Amino acid sequence: MRTQVGIIGSGPSGLLLAQLLHINGIESLVVERHSRAHVLSRIRAGVLEQRAVELLRSARVHQRMDREGQTHDGFDIAFSGQRHRIDLTGLSGSPVTVYGQTEITRDLMDARDASGAAIIDQAEDVCIEGLETDRPMLKFFKDGRAHTVACDFVAGCDGFHGVSRQTIPKAVLKEYERIYPFGWLGVLAETPPVSNELIYAHHERGFALCSMRSPRLSRYYLQVPLTDDPADWPDDRFWTELKRRLPADVANSLVTGPSIEKSIAPLRSFVVEPMSYRRLFLAGDAAHIVPPTGAKGLNLAASDIHYLSEALIAHYASADNSELVGYSNTCLRRVWKAERFSWWMTNLLHRFPESGPFGDRMQLAELDYLFGSRAAMTALAENYIGLPY
Ligand code: APR
Ligand code: PHB
Repeated sequence: MRTQVGIIGSGPSGLLLAQLLHINGIESLVVERHSRAHVLSRIRAGVLEQRAVELLRSARVHQRMDREGQTHDGFDIAFSGQRHRIDLTGLSGSPVTVYGQTEITRDLMDARDASGAAIIDQAEDVCIEGLETDRPMLKFFKDGRAHTVACDFVAGCDGFHGVSRQTIPKAVLKEYERIYPFGWLGVLAETPPVSNELIYAHHERGFALCSMRSPRLSRYYLQVPLTDDPADWPDDRFWTELKRRLPADVANSLVTGPSIEKSIAPLRSFVVEPMSYRRLFLAGDAAHIVPPTGAKGLNLAASDIHYLSEALIAHYASADNSELVGYSNTCLRRVWKAERFSWWMTNLLHRFPESGPFGDRMQLAELDYLFGSRAAMTALAENYIGLPY
């Protein structure tokens, strides 16, 4: 078999790339380790920058997003018992759109099916060979049979634990990492969201976040120790703790109900440089991870895919390889700024026991400054709505 672009991973990065290439007449093959049902069962963040919304529109997967996505003109930060609003649209000129990543993945899978091209799921032992040559190969097993696909290029869209990054010689890569000493316990519940915008809460007991997926589906998070297990958090304990970390008016209007999903995710900042090696290009979580506090993960995957699709289109349209050569540097400039923002927001809002009472006061002083300064709020807003591509 052969294809123009071999894509490893059918998360949002891989599927969006496949769709943008398809629209531009470029053939690709998507190989995925897990089943389609498994990929669609993962619950991830759901805040889209306007630029990501526009990219999904240009990929022609916007119908349901335009119908069901919610436009948010701002969000709240709560601290010291009070809520304070960041007026995103007023400060930065743009809202964000709340639409779950799982739904985006579903829309992209539907588009892939409609294009007649396959997603080879449950592919085992996917590996890349011949990276030192001009004809890299994807190898994998499907239903016990071995397959080899010759590719012009390989896109490593296989997330943090994928094979692509590991295939690049160690001496070529530099990894930057920060692991945070806590995780987020997330709960999905069929209850009306407590507020029609997101509330990020700073509290001495730890961070909390009130988010949503739809007018009937809420998503809440609590900062918890990494040693905790979801089983340590029966629903009653979760709701009681969440209420304690929210201002009284919010806690009083919180509608609780049985959880339909509960999981703990660690928080990590991670970047690999460079994001490409010969004919292999990394995109999305394969190349970088942000802590979820600024909701930047999916949005960074989208900007990588924008740059990569444009670079591949230029290659096939006019043999112009300059964007492919510049891909890593172009992506990394935006990646690092989003890393900085996610790190900053994480540091501002979480409880870091090791930084002591002085650290706690620094956070409160910064929050007080933030809401007393239009310049500081504007800086937050312009990062939250997303820096330009
Ligand atoms: N072979 C084939 N597929 C693989 C392999 C492998 N060895 N390893 C991982 N995969 C698949 C995973 O099963 C997953 O479906 O690659 C896909 C990667 O998808 P994501 O983890 O969703 O990563 P990405 O598409 O880059 O999306 C980034 O996801 O984690 C969030 O915050 C992040 O929102 C951001 C988005
Ligand atoms: C979510 O809804 O899952 C969500 C929203 C905002 C974040 C992180 C997660 O910053």
